[in-house]
Amino acid sequence: MAKKDMLNVALPKGRLGEKVYDIFERAGFECPSIKEKNRKLIFENEETGVRYFWVKPSDVAIYVERGAADIGVVGKDILLESNPDIYELLDLNMGKCIMSVAAPKGYVDDNSRTLRVATKFTNVAKNFYTSIGRDIDIIHLNGSIELAPILDLSDVIVDLVETGTTLRENNLEVIEEIVPISARFISNKSSFKFKNQQIEKVVKAMAEKVGK
Ligand code: PRP
Repeated sequence: MAKKDMLNVALPKGRLGEKVYDIFERAGFECPSIKEKNRKLIFENEETGVRYFWVKPSDVAIYVERGAADIGVVGKDILLESNPDIYELLDLNMGKCIMSVAAPKGYVDDNSRTLRVATKFTNVAKNFYTSIGRDIDIIHLNGSIELAPILDLSDVIVDLVETGTTLRENNLEVIEEIVPISARFISNKSSFKFKNQQIEKVVKAMAEKVGK
C-alpha cells in the first residue's frame, strides 16, 4: 500500500490509549510493533494499512482537525472544551466519567456573590453557568484542581469525576452533574470523504467490538 493511502490514527497516550489500541487490534487493525517497549511515537503495519501515533490526549483533536491524523480517539470532555471541526463517529463507551461541579462538604452557595470556579475546562464551565444564568469568576488551572477550594482559591471546581476517590479523600463532594463523558472515535472531515471506505470499515469493526 502506498504510504499516502495508509490510515493515520492518533491515539491518546496513557492507560486509556492502550485499551483503545486493544480494540483496534481486536477489530483487525493490529500493529504488533506498538507493543515493543521503546520510546518510539509512530508505528505502522503496511498489511493492515494503519499507522498509529501516540499523542497527548488533549492534542488528539488538533491532529485530527488539521489532517495530520485521519482519525483518532479523544475524550468527550476535550471535544466539549475545544469544539474542533471534526466528525464524531462513535462512542466507544470507555473512559467513562462525569463532568461535575464539586465543592467542600456542606458548602452552601450564596447567589448574591460571583461564584469563583476553578477548572481545566474553562469553556465547559462558562457554558454551564451561562445556561443557568449564574455570574462566575473563572480560575483556569492545569491540574490538581481539587486543591483550589481547599485553599480558598475558589468556591467550587468543575472537573471530571470517575470513581469519586479524589473528591472523597479531600473532603469534597459533587454538587451538580453537568454531562457524562466517554471516549469518542473522531475523523478529519476531508479524510472522511477521501478515505471513506477505509474509515467506515474501521468504524464498523470497532462498533462491533464495543457492542454498538
Ligand atoms: C482526573 C480528574 C480528577 C480525577 C478524578 O485527574 O481531574 O482529579 O482524575 O478521578 P476519580 O474520581 O477516580 O478520583 P487526572 O488524574 O487526570 O489528573 P489532573 O490532576 O492532572 O487533572
